[in-house]
Amino acid sequence: MTDAGPTGPLPLHRPRRLRRTAALREMVAQTRLHPERLIAPFFVVPGRSDRQPIASMPGVARLGVDLLLPQLERALGLGIRAAVLFGVVPAGVKDARASAADDVDGPVATALREAKRAFGADLTLITDVCLCGYTEHGHCGVLGPGRHGAEVDNDASLPRLSSMAVTHAEAGADLVSPSDMMDGRVAAIRSALDDAGHAGVGILSYAVKYASAFYGPFRDAAGSAPSGGGDGPDAPPRDRASYQMDPRNLREADLEVDLDEAEGADLLMVKPAMPYLDVIARVRARSSLPIVAYHVSGEYAMLEAAAAAGLLDRAAAVRETLTAIHRAGADLIFTYYAMPALENGWLDAP
Ligand code: PBG
Repeated sequence: MTDAGPTGPLPLHRPRRLRRTAALREMVAQTRLHPERLIAPFFVVPGRSDRQPIASMPGVARLGVDLLLPQLERALGLGIRAAVLFGVVPAGVKDARASAADDVDGPVATALREAKRAFGADLTLITDVCLCGYTEHGHCGVLGPGRHGAEVDNDASLPRLSSMAVTHAEAGADLVSPSDMMDGRVAAIRSALDDAGHAGVGILSYAVKYASAFYGPFRDAAGSAPSGGGDGPDAPPRDRASYQMDPRNLREADLEVDLDEAEGADLLMVKPAMPYLDVIARVRARSSLPIVAYHVSGEYAMLEAAAAAGLLDRAAAVRETLTAIHRAGADLIFTYYAMPALENGWLDAP
């Protein structure tokens, strides 16, 4: 018996040829994440010199405006071009109509004015437009009577959201980003902005936002969990399933995208990111608008917990995660890793 030789012709195509060296791999890489693709989220509180670490999101803190500004400067220095601001106010000022949401002296409006003054057009300022951080019950809209107890009243919420968007635009927002999932809010906000002389302020719509378990840490951070506001038969639900999308639905994303485009959205968001890569790819294929994905708080907390437990290599896992979201079709990514990843070189090829 002779030694067994090759049993057939050698393969003509060997994809491994282009994987041999790091230089070759760099040369043919098909996805590259640049700092300007990352958008850094910040939680802003009213007090000066206030820094409140968020237990469920290690490394993230709520900041007073004076502490926020140096962070924005750092972000710019890292090559980040945009920040999104979430306001956090004390429970005492929350009420049924979310009065603090359009307070011109609230933390978001104040931060916008100061950041615009400091950074001008260099930094794109985006604001979250939603009532959940400002209502006493934690829902994203105002409540009204429903057939089976209190319900989030879609149409009564639109003027409040529009007023919040106008307040942000007046204070210096470049883009307003409605995350409430009320029907018709893009059209309502668009006409309110136009009427107020802000035709140039864009709308980054959370077009495709699922009712997800992965928002838990954010709700801790923002104090915005839907608490129901009572236990009686008329109490509103303790979840957002009556307005955010059902995670089982994909085709419904097409409907939301088409509606928001028709209503005048300038950019479209898919949220969360990692468990919804199929949705990101589909929305990318359907729309020619820029697509944004939100790598949300629970996704961040999960990676942080695994890395802290020594179960994952943080740098490699963050790089792979953000690259995968970009590869799936997200032009831009909201991520709590924006600054740490750039600061520590986690996105660089190994
Ligand atoms: C407000 C809002 C939420 C998030 C962004 N905007 C919370 C929610 O819908 O309950 C979640 C962001 C994150 O989890 O990082 N509606």
